[in-house]
Amino acid sequence: MTRIFNFAAGPSAMPLPVLEQAASEMTDWHGVGYSILEMSHRSKEFMGIYGETVEMLRELYGIPEEYEVMFVQGGGHLQFAMIPLNFAVGGIGNYAVDGVWSRKAFNEAQKIGEAAEVACTELRAPRQDELAVTDGAAYLYYCSNETVNGIRYWYRPEVNVPLIADMSSDFLSQPVDISKYGLIFAGAQKNFGPAGLTVVIARKDLLGRAESTTPTMLDYQTYANFESMYNTPPTFAIYISHLVCKWLLAEGGVKEMERRSILKSQKIYDAIDNSDGFYYNNIEKRSRSRMNVVFNLKNEELNQLFIEEALQKGLANIKGHRIVGGMRASLYNAVSVEAAEALADYMKAFAERHS
Ligand SMILES: Cc1ncc(COP(=O)(O)O)c(C=O)c1O
Repeated sequence: MTRIFNFAAGPSAMPLPVLEQAASEMTDWHGVGYSILEMSHRSKEFMGIYGETVEMLRELYGIPEEYEVMFVQGGGHLQFAMIPLNFAVGGIGNYAVDGVWSRKAFNEAQKIGEAAEVACTELRAPRQDELAVTDGAAYLYYCSNETVNGIRYWYRPEVNVPLIADMSSDFLSQPVDISKYGLIFAGAQKNFGPAGLTVVIARKDLLGRAESTTPTMLDYQTYANFESMYNTPPTFAIYISHLVCKWLLAEGGVKEMERRSILKSQKIYDAIDNSDGFYYNNIEKRSRSRMNVVFNLKNEELNQLFIEEALQKGLANIKGHRIVGGMRASLYNAVSVEAAEALADYMKAFAERHS
């Protein structure tokens, strides 16, 4: 078996024990004689997997009883629409924009109802004093980690309206006090499981406020009423996420993931900052993402060679997003400290050879 270090931004690296267990159970799940892929979502076996996944998520984040855990399809993009459809009724969706994904969410909200951009920053997350919500604000929306731009909030915004966060790319990577949020959501395909599954954790008393004309599948209340099984849920994706949750708990949970991400990202940022300008990262230091380290080579002509030689060394998918160019190393939970070390060593050696 040859597995190389995978720094993809999502879908991205999965824990090897999860892949191995899924492979071993692929044709016969726990002796039932068929696979998860062939199992009814209403079977007691699958309901068991579903229930345990929710329970493990509750344990990992300490999710209070007053919060619903829902599994939705349609990715982060559908959340951009569902949030204003469910929460901006009669109010104004307030958005803090600091990168590609919060910009897209704001644009979508403007199509649906009233939306206001309360902050707009580049190369950094807005500060708390820049987040003044408007009169009639229904919520404040922000993206805790901008995957493309490599920007994170180093703090949790405090506002007197429900706080809504896109945590797609830093989900389960650090402790989060869920009780301070109205809703958080995350596409699974970075830190939780396969693409096709989106987790939504929302305060129960905020649900059920959508207009009566809202399509059934776009109303969070439907998911709450039917345990996310009004329609057929993405069963295989939920099953894999179940294995990921087990792995996370065995590894020490979100506190341990936070410790590792600080360590991993520091290795790459050190390689950048100690390169005498060979590499650079323009993000304000406290806003630097721990999940997606974005950097550039001063000499852009070396970009292609940098990517090719990295791959030869078993370091894959470090090309930056097409919108910002340069490089991006995504350091999600399944990316080991060893992988980050290998990339940092390669960066140092490459800079020495080409300086
Ligand atoms: C932070 C963030 N939000 C939203 C999205 C969009 O997710 P999806 O492609 O699942 O719609 C992404 C995708 O990478 C993301 O990184």
